[in-house]
Amino acid sequence: MKKLTILSSFIFIIFLNAKYLDNHSCSECHEKIYEEYETSAHSRGYFNNELHRKIANKADSNRYECATCHMPMADNLKDLINGKARPNKNNKTHTDAVSCYFCHTIAYVKKAHNHNINIKARQAKNFKPTIYGLLDNPEDSDKHSSNKNPLYKKIVCIGCHSHKLNDNNITIFRAMSNNQNSVRCIECHMPKVSGGVEKMDKRARGEHASHRFLGIHDKEFRKKGIDINATIKDKILEITLTNKMPHPLIIQPARAKFLKIVIERDNKVIWKNYKKSPSEDKKAYFAYSFKKDGRKIIIPATATEGSVHNLNAKESKILIYTIPILKKGDKIVISLYVQFAKSDCTKVINLSNKKLLKPELIKKLIVIKR
Ligand code: HEC
Ligand code: HEC
Ligand code: HEC
Ligand code: HEC
Ligand code: HEC
Repeated sequence: MKKLTILSSFIFIIFLNAKYLDNHSCSECHEKIYEEYETSAHSRGYFNNELHRKIANKADSNRYECATCHMPMADNLKDLINGKARPNKNNKTHTDAVSCYFCHTIAYVKKAHNHNINIKARQAKNFKPTIYGLLDNPEDSDKHSSNKNPLYKKIVCIGCHSHKLNDNNITIFRAMSNNQNSVRCIECHMPKVSGGVEKMDKRARGEHASHRFLGIHDKEFRKKGIDINATIKDKILEITLTNKMPHPLIIQPARAKFLKIVIERDNKVIWKNYKKSPSEDKKAYFAYSFKKDGRKIIIPATATEGSVHNLNAKESKILIYTIPILKKGDKIVISLYVQFAKSDCTKVINLSNKKLLKPELIKKLIVIKR
């Protein structure tokens, strides 16, 4: 009797899972896109992103409610969120993070208060799955059919990237407004690169949309987001920061971005905008901060208050400093840095990858007094 139940549940699982095409299976035909994707943030999740996993476990060691966006393809999503199941490294729908199949089967996005909800395309049972693309008359392949979804390009990013509020109605992040179009996101983050869409390059298109999803981790790409300008008049240094992106500079709570300003005379530092920690210079330190019942907390899941010092989409800010009177040859070095996990994170989690804490340069401006 026992044998029978084990056997029948086995068959049942196979039947349910039959339709999921995992990331690696796409590489058979979309080799280049797969290789790019594997280097992208979307391929990182609970099992291969230490920062995410540790914060998630600390936020709630039973319920993995982050799965909605970080493990959206999970075949037991509800159980993960309710705490009836935990992430399982032998389950492809768990290890695949923001998977190819998930992204390409988003039918529409339901706007909601706490966070938006991706609604997936219904797949007919016992048929090859249908995947959304942009071609008018895509060919079928052994593994899937494709369909043109006119909505697809407009909505594909907003389901996960727009906003998230916690149970106390506190904004954990807000990266874009609900009526913002994803087409622009795709223009910058998925530029056309050479190489066929599939191995055979059937239509001789010779190019495809890059699936590297370059962002803040890429040294060249991240220079493009912010313009830095400076003018000096007597004792006043005026720095103008301009955000050229259609989203804020800070879009999530682990991150800090800040300015380091140093004035050098004969290779000696004669002035700095902070002594030890960049957060001393409040106006040039961009990050979220949260409180619970009046006390500062690091992980926002239970926060009752929250605020963010930000540079909003397309916003310019002027920062004014009083500096020593400069002499000819004095050098002002203005550097914008990112810290992937702000220093405060170490108060609640132990990161084995120390690089996450080490500030990395986004962009630098050097002005020499003439
Ligand atoms: C509504 C969708 C959504 C939910 C729910 C969500 N996240 Fe995220 N998370 C995102 C998006 C989108 C990003 C990428 C934004 C970025 O990198 O700036 C992200 C990025 C992160 C990062 C930064 C990753 C890195 O390597 O820099 C951490 C850490 C993180 N999330 C933790 C969590 C935790 C913990 C939970 C659950 C308590 C959670 N998130 C729930 C959408 C979500
Ligand atoms: C975050 C969502 C997302 C993920 C994850 C994703 N894609 Fe895409 N993909 C898109 C979008 C959006 C486009 C349309 C881009 C365009 O044409 O401007 C696209 C385009 C494509 C195309 C059409 C050809 C072209 O012009 O580039 C193929 C094929 C494709 N993706 C395959 C894959 C495969 C294979 C994976 C995983 C290895 C994957 N995608 C992961 C969003 C995603
Ligand atoms: C057996 C080969 C094969 C496999 C495996 C495969 N595809 Fe495709 N895919 C194709 C072919 C062939 C086309 C049609 C291309 C055409 O009509 O020019 C296509 C088209 C697409 C398109 C539409 C292209 C467009 O420009 O609109 C998308 C999106 C796509 N595939 C995504 C995926 C994803 C995601 C996976 C993995 C889950 C995958 N494919 C697995 C062969 C394959
Ligand atoms: C004009 C080009 C441009 C457009 C359009 C754009 N971005 Fe960005 N984005 C950037 C640049 C450049 C960076 C890296 C620099 C930075 O974050 O300071 C970036 C960074 C990001 C990051 C990582 C930020 C972090 O700190 O972790 C995410 C997530 C992101 N963009 C999502 C989006 C989404 C979603 C959209 C659509 C609303 C979008 N982007 C539209 C240029 C653009
Ligand atoms: C299913 C949810 C989901 C969808 C849909 C989605 N993303 Fe993401 N995205 C994430 C998560 C989660 C992360 C952070 C993963 C991590 O680092 O652990 C992320 C990270 C990113 C990053 C950050 C890269 C970096 O580290 O700087 C960029 C850029 C980005 N996404 C762009 C896009 C664009 C453009 C689209 C639409 C074509 C899109 N995403 C659709 C969930 C999603």
